[in-house]
Amino acid sequence: MLENIKGRRSCRNYLDKEVSSELIDEVVECGLLAPSGMNTQGIEFCVITNKEILNGLAELAGRNFHYNAPCLIVVYGEADNRFTPYDGSCAMAQMHLAAHELGLGACWINQLKDFVVDERFDDIMNKLALKGKVIVGSLALGYKAEEPKPRMMKRICRVNYVK
Ligand SMILES: Cc1cc2nc3c(=O)[nH]c(=O)nc-3n(C[C@H](O)[C@H](O)[C@H](O)COP(=O)(O)O)c2cc1C
Repeated sequence: MLENIKGRRSCRNYLDKEVSSELIDEVVECGLLAPSGMNTQGIEFCVITNKEILNGLAELAGRNFHYNAPCLIVVYGEADNRFTPYDGSCAMAQMHLAAHELGLGACWINQLKDFVVDERFDDIMNKLALKGKVIVGSLALGYKAEEPKPRMMKRICRVNYVK
């Protein structure tokens, strides 16, 4: 577990290879099992593997925002749940680690939360039942085309030990 946490990196280069539904389900289950404020379990997941939809989103966005990952897991909740951003972030982190454990690459993708409030995306967002939701983030998921380098820490003094 410690090695998993220390070795995880964001992946931005994916093979053109589908991820099995079994592996995707493992990752999603780890998101579903994440802690949530007052155990509300309000976070929901939209798993997009449909190439037409993924390409359509990238086309409208005008850029390859998901790095051609074959799977995008959108993590969202309701605006009236004050825990949504925190719970969604916990789910994202757990899915990141699950992906790494399973030998998959993953990357937090922030753009969906802009798309959901942009009317050019209304058709797709309605189709995905995401319109009106608070999107915390989405996880690009796929097989790594290259092994990311180990992470470098930017600053050393980020921990204040008070004894
Ligand atoms: C809230 C949040 C939003 C992020 N949004 C994006 C994004 O839109 N696109 C992207 O390529 N990476 C995104 N990332 C990934 C970060 O850039 C990455 O975690 C950071 O550079 C550290 O690299 P590492 O994950 O390999 O340790 C995001 C990460 C977080 C936590």
